[in-house]
Amino acid sequence: MARPHIEPFCDRDVPFKKMNKKGFGNGMHFKMLSMDTDTGACSMTVQFDAGYKQTPGFSWSELEVLVMEGELQLGDKKVGKGYYAFFPAGYAMPALSTEKGAQCLFMYNTGEPSLVESDTHHPLCRVDRFHQTNAYNDIPWALGNIANPATACGCMIKLLNHNDRTHALTFLYCMTANFTQDNISYHDCAEESYHIWGSSWIMQFGEVPTGGYFWRPPYINHGAFASELGCIALGRVDSKLFNHFHYNPWSTVEENQLRAVARVHQRDPHVYKWMVSNAHNHPHGPEDFELTMPRHGGSLISREPNRNEAFSHRHGDGGHHHHGDGHAHDHEH
Ligand SMILES: [Fe+2]
Repeated sequence: MARPHIEPFCDRDVPFKKMNKKGFGNGMHFKMLSMDTDTGACSMTVQFDAGYKQTPGFSWSELEVLVMEGELQLGDKKVGKGYYAFFPAGYAMPALSTEKGAQCLFMYNTGEPSLVESDTHHPLCRVDRFHQTNAYNDIPWALGNIANPATACGCMIKLLNHNDRTHALTFLYCMTANFTQDNISYHDCAEESYHIWGSSWIMQFGEVPTGGYFWRPPYINHGAFASELGCIALGRVDSKLFNHFHYNPWSTVEENQLRAVARVHQRDPHVYKWMVSNAHNHPHGPEDFELTMPRHGGSLISREPNRNEAFSHRHGDGGHHHHGDGHAHDHEH
């Protein structure tokens, strides 16, 4: 079970809880933002009290950290607002302490929070994947066109992490004051955001204030967007980001999924042939609602298939789909 849809949510509305898992120091508090209850992978707002100390050690999970307020002493390095680090699983973090306290985002990507005291990396750790930066000072804002088609201009990004196998991304993004985008979006990936400062508005979910957060599973409509005074946020996607844009506020998750698969069928027909789609691949591909929805104006009518004919077909076996037969399963691997 993946993480559930959390939206709208604001961490200012819930209190901190004391972190009392073994290994962590005294004076660490957290607000759970989202969690995969099977693996324990989670995202948390974390507050360290003044004087907090923890021993060097590694986590069994991949971990991403962003400092939002205050300063941390990490080994012999003092880091503050905007510091970002990617710790691969098994990477020994140096001793961590804070003189005056700090507030961070902690994102455990592959398992529950853990800290095993150690000043050496786990022998299987992919040490080369470790990287750190000051996201505020050391990276310039770039256009949001890491994905194409892209968000409207005025939504800028700083790329912080890219997984070359899954294409998962971590990035800071900002919306400039008076940003607007009038279309609706959904993706084939889960999408996560934490508003570090400022406020933005999403048609379906309302205002996202400072401390506002979402974990949004794939294929859920979001947008139009607006931000009156601007905002800065941490964003993540768990696999390849593609912006499926449209203007149909009533489309369902199932229709959005079908349209995404229809696009695979149109673009990569030979790959589609090998895909399992509800245990039954339609010879004509699934329905793309943007091609079949009723429209005024008629300029596209000649391109529109007849929805009553285009997506019906004979199976030669009484007309039912093959649910429950010998090969009706999705391969998890
Ligand atoms: Fe999105």
